[in-house]
Amino acid sequence: MKRLHYFTGLIITVFVGLHLFNHFVSIFGAEAHIHLMNKLRFIYRNIIVETILLIAVIIQIITGLNLFFSKRKIVKGFYEKMQVWTGLYLAFFLIMHISAVLVGRYILNLDTNFYFGAAGLNTFPMNLFFIPYYGLAVISFFGHAAAIHYHKMKKKLFGLTVEQQSKIILINGFIATLIIFYGLTNGFSGIEIPKEFNIMIGK
Ligand code: HEM
Repeated sequence: MKRLHYFTGLIITVFVGLHLFNHFVSIFGAEAHIHLMNKLRFIYRNIIVETILLIAVIIQIITGLNLFFSKRKIVKGFYEKMQVWTGLYLAFFLIMHISAVLVGRYILNLDTNFYFGAAGLNTFPMNLFFIPYYGLAVISFFGHAAAIHYHKMKKKLFGLTVEQQSKIILINGFIATLIIFYGLTNGFSGIEIPKEFNIMIGK
């Protein structure tokens, strides 16, 4: 169970690393984000890679929830607790997020691009849900990685203890969240959402 969780986690991490980098590029504008997404889609939006990714996500959620229920009462210490609770949030987020992307793509016939991600974040009162929903997802992703690093890493790196290294990963999660939100909201000043995405924001 643990091995399967670890292995599928690695596959998902490669995708999420590229995916978050894609969102990071939104600081250079919507066009830059869309341009990179179109390039990245050649890698992940094909029947082979997308099937592997979706199967990995399903296995990750099932094994993760099993691990959560067997561990939640026995974990102790900051990093162990963080690992199980960020994992639980990621399971919830992945179910919601991938369902939303698939509904957007196949039922609403939308291009699930920059504006699909930015719609809820730039519209009041939806943003009251979407800010914590996406923010916690990015922070949980880094938090989960920081906890794994804490257990697996055995030695100092550049003179930093394992605890300091894990803290840096976690702090990077907060910084990445801020940068991504800055990009997806046009420097926090808001983005005009094209009409075809009106359905996303209840218009
Ligand atoms: C600010 C935060 C995020 C936003 C705005 C966002 C937005 C999006 C969008 C627009 C897509 C569709 C991509 C496409 O059509 O090519 C997508 C797909 C996806 N996202 Fe996110 N995402 C965010 C964070 C995350 C995080 C933290 C994870 C994982 C932990 C994640 C996992 C995925 C997965 C697995 C897919 C499906 C890929 C596919 O099979 O096409 N996302 N996301």
